[in-house]
Amino acid sequence: MTPGARLQAVIELLDQVWSGRQPADQLTDAYFKKRRYAGSSDRRNINHVLYQILRRRARLDWWTERSGIAVPQGPRARIIANLALADKAAPDEISTLFSGQIHCPGALDQQELELAESLYGRPLTHADMTRSTALEYPEWMDASFSALWGDRLELEISALNQPAPVDLRVNTLKTTREIAKAELAAQFIETEETALSPLGLRLVGKARLGGTQAFRDGLVEVQDEGSQILALLCGAEPHMTVVDYCAGAGGKSLALAASMALRGRVEGQLYACDISQTRINRMEPRLKRAGAQAVRRKILTGKDDAWIKRAKASADRVLVDAPCTGTGAWRRDPQAKWRFTPDQLDDLLAQQQAILSSAATLVKPGGRLVYATCSLLQEENEQQLFRFLENHSAFSPLPIDHIWSETIGGPPPPTGPCLRLSPASTGTDGFFCTVLQRTP
Ligand SMILES: C[S@@+](CC[C@H](N)C(=O)[O-])C[C@H]1O[C@@H](n2cnc3c(N)ncnc32)[C@H](O)[C@@H]1O
Repeated sequence: MTPGARLQAVIELLDQVWSGRQPADQLTDAYFKKRRYAGSSDRRNINHVLYQILRRRARLDWWTERSGIAVPQGPRARIIANLALADKAAPDEISTLFSGQIHCPGALDQQELELAESLYGRPLTHADMTRSTALEYPEWMDASFSALWGDRLELEISALNQPAPVDLRVNTLKTTREIAKAELAAQFIETEETALSPLGLRLVGKARLGGTQAFRDGLVEVQDEGSQILALLCGAEPHMTVVDYCAGAGGKSLALAASMALRGRVEGQLYACDISQTRINRMEPRLKRAGAQAVRRKILTGKDDAWIKRAKASADRVLVDAPCTGTGAWRRDPQAKWRFTPDQLDDLLAQQQAILSSAATLVKPGGRLVYATCSLLQEENEQQLFRFLENHSAFSPLPIDHIWSETIGGPPPPTGPCLRLSPASTGTDGFFCTVLQRTP
């Protein structure tokens, strides 16, 4: 593809990212599936520019607004700003890329040309920017992040705006970490063992895993190291009854199934529940590949769900991997930053509390309720925990260092009474986790 055609692909992808709610990686996968002519270097380049723009959006828009030039804040203006500010591309170079020729972006109009001229050579980050603009996060989250991190804020937020590594969880239903590592190496995929998860392998450099035998045979699943840790902290064991209450497409259900395995078979009852039929359906091929067909899938119909009533007080472990703002996963989905408003956060908080209350009814005396999010906002984490405890006196939090040494072994990374992971502190996505016990 020519440089202009690659840029046109970025414009089309940005349009898709900004007009829907689907994460950019899913959109790019679908986009390239339909465009087999795009070679691996085209894909790399398009992805690189796409994510650059997603990660710089606040600063690019700040500059466009400051220029006073009336251009709409869309993919074209942001690409022009990125070329002029970050790549130091001169206006005539930008005009060459926006050539108007076949497969290339349409020619620059007068305002766009003025924008390219006005921004050329300026620094991407400017001293007049607010902290939230310079560090690329929504201003309304500033109070929450400041309270949480104090003078670590810049370090933590900057790490959230970097590309993330690809982590794999070794499927112990089928293999061991040593064997999986060797199998991947035989297919020229180099990995290193993750520092915290005893089941994790981190890809060294880039690799296309999907076509490898190790992946097709279900020896490994793509899963961030932090997610692996959350599943391990549930302490699921063979012969238990375990519920993954917000299972989505089954990332953690697969990990729980492996924890419940005896001689390669899931022993006990593992229920993967969700209100989304589409997500539950996406789990099926993954269960098959992993050899975890014993997992029972349940589509929940709300708080009066008949299965929830029947299963009352029956589970040894209930994991609530709650729907959340996803602030901890901004490395993988930078667009998620701009998806929520304060009002939508309020709705989400009410939803999380309702889910926790309903999930709690499933826990048997002496059983455990694990609450986890991939959010870093205290409103969705510690504050939700306190609110839940106020209304559910039968539950009390267990010290996370005890849980860690019982389920993973050794001490956890430095953390408070609940577990907090983040790119800057643990090299994982950002997560929160607390384990509650129902009075025996
Ligand atoms: C963070 S995602 C779960 C990710 C999944 N556990 C994994 O590891 O891949 C949250 C999920 O909660 C589900 N959800 C939302 N409201 C729910 C409810 N009231 N009951 C159960 N699941 C719900 C969403 O459909 C979504 O799949």
